[in-house]
Amino acid sequence: MAATKTYLTGVKPTGEPHLGNYLGALKPALRAAHEYDAYYFIADYHALTTVRDPEVMRHNTRSVAATWLACGLDPERTVVYRQSDVPETFELTWVLACVTGKGLMNRAHAYKAVRDRNAEAGLADLDAGVNMGLFNYPVLMAVDILIMETDLVPVGRDQAQHVEYAADIAGSFNHLFGDGYTFRIPKGVYPEGDASVLPGVDGRKMSKSYDNHIPLFLPEGRLKKLIRRIPTDSVPVEEPKDPDSSVVFQLLTHFAGADRIAETRKRLEAGGMGWGELKNELFEAVNAEIAPKRERYEALMAPDSELDDILAAGGERARERSRRVLSQVRAAVGID
Ligand code: ADP
Ligand code: TRP
Repeated sequence: MAATKTYLTGVKPTGEPHLGNYLGALKPALRAAHEYDAYYFIADYHALTTVRDPEVMRHNTRSVAATWLACGLDPERTVVYRQSDVPETFELTWVLACVTGKGLMNRAHAYKAVRDRNAEAGLADLDAGVNMGLFNYPVLMAVDILIMETDLVPVGRDQAQHVEYAADIAGSFNHLFGDGYTFRIPKGVYPEGDASVLPGVDGRKMSKSYDNHIPLFLPEGRLKKLIRRIPTDSVPVEEPKDPDSSVVFQLLTHFAGADRIAETRKRLEAGGMGWGELKNELFEAVNAEIAPKRERYEALMAPDSELDDILAAGGERARERSRRVLSQVRAAVGID
């Protein structure tokens, strides 16, 4: 029997997830966790390139883990851990930095984007505001992936270059030191098409950067209010409405069952159903799916919950694997 593939992904603790992240990233990733030898970690040291408030770092780190667990990730099956709990990562970062061309880092999208912005702003120093963490970011990410001997890395398209860099860097090491140790070459797994893109309250793709998002674990009362505030046109209750041009209806199609969607479509087209009623229906559908998870999330976020023990145990399991890889790497380069 072929060995189960290793499937690994990391999330930076930089903010609260929204319904788009839930449908587009969280749910598919949790489904896949059952099929693979899965590793899910919180990339806290990656977040340190931008997060400057220790309380925010602590809160968001726990919040990412609590979200996964509340949405059904089983920490017995999947290794859930903090990047910072695997110190071997930082030793390997130096080793791999020594086989990585600086030119490769110069071409990294995230770094280039800052330089482009500085150029546009007319700054003489194009590296203004760039810390070495941001510059080295792709090496650290390559290590996250390679140190767990990862086969597959499910991420958004924006991360494709980073996964390709990880494969490149592994190739450089294997070329130089392959007699002693060879890294497994990872592959990215990307979401397909636009069908699964959830719209935000203004009809564009739901995104934190458009500020049109609905946070996943908003308390019930605030969720209701936010949904009631989604802009709609002024077609009166009794007139027929076009469901397909309504954001509220589009959102409903992602949360309600097929029968409910078909019936609501008919009622809107026939006239007699107002936007207010449609919004109530959307609230009920979203809340029915989220409420049990929200309750579990809130329990896990309590200061003395089992969350911290789960993360510590995951860190230990991740370290077992990373220690084994690092000792082989050290021997391969002659530092043992
Ligand atoms: P944001 O645009 O809010 O910053 P991210 O880019 O951090 O979201 O997305 C994190 C993950 O969530 C990615 O895998 C992305 O594909 C998924 N995702 C984000 N927004 C949506 C959306 N509106 N519909 C479906 N999936 C989404
Ligand atoms: N850079 C990723 C992001 O911003 C987070 C990340 C860090 C990651 N290390 C990783 C993702 C390793 C996958 C694998 O979303």
